[in-house]
Amino acid sequence: MTTTGRTSRTTTMGDGRLRPVVSARVRIIGWMFGVLALALSALVVLTWQVLAARADAAADDELTHEANKFRAFARSPEAATFTRSEALLDRWLQSNLPDDSEAFFTIVGGREDHRSQGTPPARLDTDAAFVRRAADATEPSYGWVDSPAGKVRYGVIPVRVGSQPDRAHLVVLEFRDVIAEPSMAAARALVLIGAITLVLAAGACWLVTGRVLAPIRQLRTTAERISETDLRRRIEVVGNDDVAQLAGTFNTMLDRLEDAFTAQREFVDNAGHELRTPITVIRGHLELMSEDPHDRADTKALVLDELARMNRMVDDLLVLAKSERPDFLEVGEVNLTELVVEVVAKARPLADRSWRVAGTADATIVADGQRLTQALMQLVSNAVRHTRPGDRIEVGSRLDPDGTARLWVADTGPGVPTADRERIFERFARGNDQRRTDGAGLGLAIVRSIAQAHDGEVRLVPGPGARFELTLPAAKEAMSR
Ligand SMILES: Nc1ncnc2c1ncn2[C@@H]1O[C@H](COP(=O)(O)OP(=O)(O)O)[C@@H](O)[C@H]1O
Ligand SMILES: [Mg+2]
Repeated sequence: MTTTGRTSRTTTMGDGRLRPVVSARVRIIGWMFGVLALALSALVVLTWQVLAARADAAADDELTHEANKFRAFARSPEAATFTRSEALLDRWLQSNLPDDSEAFFTIVGGREDHRSQGTPPARLDTDAAFVRRAADATEPSYGWVDSPAGKVRYGVIPVRVGSQPDRAHLVVLEFRDVIAEPSMAAARALVLIGAITLVLAAGACWLVTGRVLAPIRQLRTTAERISETDLRRRIEVVGNDDVAQLAGTFNTMLDRLEDAFTAQREFVDNAGHELRTPITVIRGHLELMSEDPHDRADTKALVLDELARMNRMVDDLLVLAKSERPDFLEVGEVNLTELVVEVVAKARPLADRSWRVAGTADATIVADGQRLTQALMQLVSNAVRHTRPGDRIEVGSRLDPDGTARLWVADTGPGVPTADRERIFERFARGNDQRRTDGAGLGLAIVRSIAQAHDGEVRLVPGPGARFELTLPAAKEAMSR
């Protein structure tokens, strides 16, 4: 059950607790957003790492390249003309211009001497600790150092010309973050585009789910508005997709519900009407009853008669009501011959007729013997009512080769008018020609309920007189199972 309020909706779960209703739309978008965000974050982190590794490698390459260039210069004939390492390094600095992401400087006598032209991204030649460390190098060495412009890949190459006692040093700096900047800018754009995509996707999802869920919402509101008193509402079916099919199924279910409720209401109306008649009769006679003993005896007999009639009707109504329940039948083994013989034995004292037992196959089927007897007795009492003393009434049974059991009651009375053939099986339906009879028109309805409970049917076989036949399919097979 779902309760709806203006601000909060709750639903009762199977365990009876109330839980807030989470809109399916919010849930779908939540999932989509979560999955997309996760995928995008993974993509960004991965890209970032790959780019960082590449920038490291690029800085390394540049450093090697510069170092090789310097070594080539140091071995050149031109270099041989220098007698002092400072001069050799100055020459190198003059002839080599650094990239935007590079800087060179020289160390002479433990101090920063000259630096390359142009403005470096950050100054490391002013970093006394770094310069001191670099000046200590006796071998070419490499490493990473932090600077205000990010990570720096550096190389220190000691230089000594001839027999000069002091070493001079060339320091090459590769500003990794400056080298990486273009690809990092691309990565930042990627993040931005990802974020925008996420927002747009969420928006699109909101619109699409709104469209998809609109019919379901309509379904819900319609279902909420439907009450027992107004079952006429239907859901508008648009298109032929799954949701439209759901709406169609829902409407069909409503059709059936409406039919069932209408039938039930008619049934209750009819039952009320039929029960009111004997009550009115009883009251009328009791009110008009005089003190005359004869009159009193007559009235008493009549009242008892009407009460018996009411009693039968209530019993019949209870049988019909019970026939809708699963425990209507108590199935067991039923011998067809015994069934028919018993019915005739019960019927014989009812009226002076020529009673016959016909077509008795000595077969046993699986069915509810008491209900079948009840059905046959209804048919027998109808036959008695529509025949005169001496007329013939036949009760018979047969088992077809395919396992279908047939039970019938036939009489030589006037039969049923063609116009009434179908109608008489309905509840409270009586023949038109009849004066007020003993029954309320429930007899054949009960017979039909009993037949249907056995997955079978009852029909009126045309011919002279009336012949009502019950067919119970595969009653024999049910037993052999
Ligand atoms: N054997 C029969 N011969 C002729 N008409 C019959 C016979 N059995 C039933 N009918 C018709 O079918 C109608 C419905 O029967 P039933 O449902 O038993 O109601 P009821 O017996 O209370 O009238 C009867 O009123 C009668 O017109
Ligand atoms: Mg009857």
